[in-house]
Amino acid sequence: MSRQQDPFIGRDVLNGQFKILQKIGSGGMGSVYKALQPAMNRMVAIKILHPKLASRKDLVSRFRREARAMSHLTHPNTVKVYLYGELEDGSLYIVMEYLDGKNLNQTVRSEGPMAIERGLPLLIQACNALEEAHRAGIIHRDLKPENIFVTQQGGMKDFAKVLDFGLAKVTEREMRPGSVILTQEGMVFGTPEFMSPEQAQGKALTPGSDIYSLAVILYEVLTGKLPFDAKNPMEFIQLHVTTRPKPISERVPGKTFPPLLWTVLSRALEKKSSDRYASAAEFAHALQAVLAGLTAVPPFNDGSGRPPRPMMPSTGAIPTPLAQQAIAIPAGGLVPPPQRSSPLPRETEAVRPPLALLAGVALAFLTIGALLAFVVLNVMKK
Ligand SMILES: Nc1ncnc2c1ncn2[C@@H]1O[C@H](COP(=O)(O)OP(=O)(O)O)[C@@H](O)[C@H]1O
Ligand SMILES: [Mg+2]
Repeated sequence: MSRQQDPFIGRDVLNGQFKILQKIGSGGMGSVYKALQPAMNRMVAIKILHPKLASRKDLVSRFRREARAMSHLTHPNTVKVYLYGELEDGSLYIVMEYLDGKNLNQTVRSEGPMAIERGLPLLIQACNALEEAHRAGIIHRDLKPENIFVTQQGGMKDFAKVLDFGLAKVTEREMRPGSVILTQEGMVFGTPEFMSPEQAQGKALTPGSDIYSLAVILYEVLTGKLPFDAKNPMEFIQLHVTTRPKPISERVPGKTFPPLLWTVLSRALEKKSSDRYASAAEFAHALQAVLAGLTAVPPFNDGSGRPPRPMMPSTGAIPTPLAQQAIAIPAGGLVPPPQRSSPLPRETEAVRPPLALLAGVALAFLTIGALLAFVVLNVMKK
């Protein structure tokens, strides 16, 4: 649709609160516009659902649920939602922070595949955003390079923002187990190129489904190629279900990667969700190890106080103490900070040794010991 034909461009919406300036993106569900919010003297992005979809009650309630959930996500690597609702004409909208930059797909298309030092931190940031969503019970279901934005924030270049949470899971018809729906508009339940095997089969999704998609994204970002060659969406779907992806170092002639990268990626690309990383935070932890140049992934501590999970199958090498140090202070942070205004996802809830607890327990043991000794002595005297 050209600028002239788009009915939203140039329009004042929500009682003149926003003036829609131009279209900045479009997908199966609607369009995204850049708009001015004069009262705040800032730009915002407004996503408006196709008016024809807004007449579908099931889609509307699902959209509302997703928008509400998304507005509760506070991770700095998740796009910030300001408000959502219905425009004067009944179209559903979401107003969000305006991001300056390009999505990952546009970035790779214009700048070529990324070096590990650039691609890994972006994906680690996306993992951190997903960790918060998963903990809140939200599975993205449509992770692909178009839904990860590369922007600047707080003076940080290459700041990742995860977009489009849960919207794309809305299909024209309800999903039936075992079926994959491709609508006339080419809208699918997820995107075949990045789809986990369980999604491709119409099975229930887990956080592991998002982890799989993130791994496919990373594969593409680093090589410029997908893990599979397919001629059409159905073929991609089939390959995700049945075929092991080509090792990343064999994908582009002359381009090799650290062996640990493939160890980590292939675990995230396991066909069975339960064979992948247990959480996005654990996947981020493994990617940090690759970024730090380690030859194996150190044990992962999920901050729950439970003993670390057994180490993933490694290349056989043992991490050096120096390398372990490097991973002990993850730059990306694994725990979502309470505030999204900070430029970096910082680890604000670092696991501290519970000193007070230890002291209390020691004191209790000493007291019990003394009492026991007293009783035993008394008994012996008698
Ligand atoms: N907040 C934003 N700021 C700037 N550009 C955005 C923003 N949100 C989305 N976009 C652009 O619009 C495209 C489509 O947005 P998205 O939320 O993914 O909608 P769709 O459901 O149509 O895929 C994105 O790939 C991105 O390029
Ligand atoms: Mg999108």
